Amino acid sequence: MSADVRPIAESELPDWLRTVNTGFLNTARLTDADVAMRAKHNDFARTQGAFDPDTGRCVAAFRSFAQELTVPGGAAVPSTAISNVGVLPTHRRQGLLTRMMAAEFAAAGARGDVLATLIAAEYPIYGRYGFGPATSLAEWEIDVPRTGLDRRLSAPADGGRIDLVDEAEVRQVGPELHERLRARTPGAVNRNERWWNMATGLQEISYRPYREKFFAVYRTAAGEVAGLVAYRADDHWTDAKVPQNTVQVHDLLALTPQAERALWQFLCSIDWVLKVRTGYRAPDDLVPQLLPDPRSARIVTAADFLWVRVLDVVRALGARTYEAPGELVLEVTDAAGPAAGRYRLDAGTGTCERTGAAADLRLDVSALGSLYLGDESAVRLAALGRVTEERPGAVALADAVFRTARRPWCPDIF
Ligand SMILES: CC(C)(COP(=O)(O)OP(=O)(O)OC[C@H]1O[C@@H](n2cnc3c(N)ncnc32)[C@H](O)[C@@H]1OP(=O)(O)O)[C@@H](O)C(=O)NCCC(=O)NCCS
Repeated sequence: MSADVRPIAESELPDWLRTVNTGFLNTARLTDADVAMRAKHNDFARTQGAFDPDTGRCVAAFRSFAQELTVPGGAAVPSTAISNVGVLPTHRRQGLLTRMMAAEFAAAGARGDVLATLIAAEYPIYGRYGFGPATSLAEWEIDVPRTGLDRRLSAPADGGRIDLVDEAEVRQVGPELHERLRARTPGAVNRNERWWNMATGLQEISYRPYREKFFAVYRTAAGEVAGLVAYRADDHWTDAKVPQNTVQVHDLLALTPQAERALWQFLCSIDWVLKVRTGYRAPDDLVPQLLPDPRSARIVTAADFLWVRVLDVVRALGARTYEAPGELVLEVTDAAGPAAGRYRLDAGTGTCERTGAAADLRLDVSALGSLYLGDESAVRLAALGRVTEERPGAVALADAVFRTARRPWCPDIF
């Protein structure tokens, strides 16, 4: 008999959480407080488990929650964010993830979600379900003495100011700053109160205790909060008593290039600090070019980050703006879901409708997910055989229409 896949009851949460942790190779013992905190924030209708018919034990876990994803042009698109996916090693490769994903897509369709999103633990898992990598990340390590920055500077040169603040002040100013930033950042997702509470230690999981950070806020000359950085430093000295500390940035939000410049310069001016690791930024982040010697910033991590699965093509393509006018008929294949069909996109008006007209381009829904936020190039996907051109010039037009001048960036892992 096959496992029973269904939403879990609240009483099954400890068993379900243990399954998630086992999937992630985490042996931590859950406390009652861990379970209670999760229960408080959990949507049980959207929390699936698979239960072994013989033992009744939870053997697979899957959860989703409502999310807003900013798309080019600034619209916040209703999405279902998928998280906490784990199957016990004793029950893997029996189709349990496939069944839970199918149930999620059916529920998402009934709710009217336009997209599904996730951060993939491993690249090969989610393409088969129609997801495509839609944003990329880069992390730089800055060799501070090489930057050429004047370390005698003690305040931003633009008349703004930087103040170190405590967690309580971060909870006051952070959410509004982030809301303003995400409205102008394609790829960004909403944060809730729990996010800020976890990031500032007001809430914590017993096996992932909060570790104190430093926080600094940048205010413009007019007194407006326009930037925030959260960072930690290690404690590294040579035997000869020379400080060699590294700052690791955990979150850096900046509304303007001036705020970005001020915060990076601040981090690179801290005494004892020889290296600054930037945390995950967009690959076209300004940070190297904000330094007098951009080569002092070296990329140490580059990878795919947010994966997007288009569920409702008409609403998804109608929600974003385009970089150039032009009309394209897209033939979308979708073995596992509801996106299959032929669609006419008018990029000039930003509208999309189903059509019976001849296709200009053929592509799988996973390729559409990769094009959707403007990060991927249709020309590249065509070279890889993932987009097929039916009308000469259609691939180049798709590139001009979909690809954005600045690359999307998702600051959050979920
Ligand atoms: C990844 C995981 C959730 C897959 O669950 P599962 O129930 O074994 O998946 P399914 O049996 O439904 O697999 C469906 C297909 O995907 C393939 N697949 C699943 N996981 C894969 C992986 N990690 N790499 C490559 N292929 C994978 C299967 O081989 C199967 O292919 P097939 O239909 O051609 O045979 C599970 O292996 C797991 O819990 N891994 C550890 C935790 C983890 O990585 N979680 C994901 C967090 S984002």
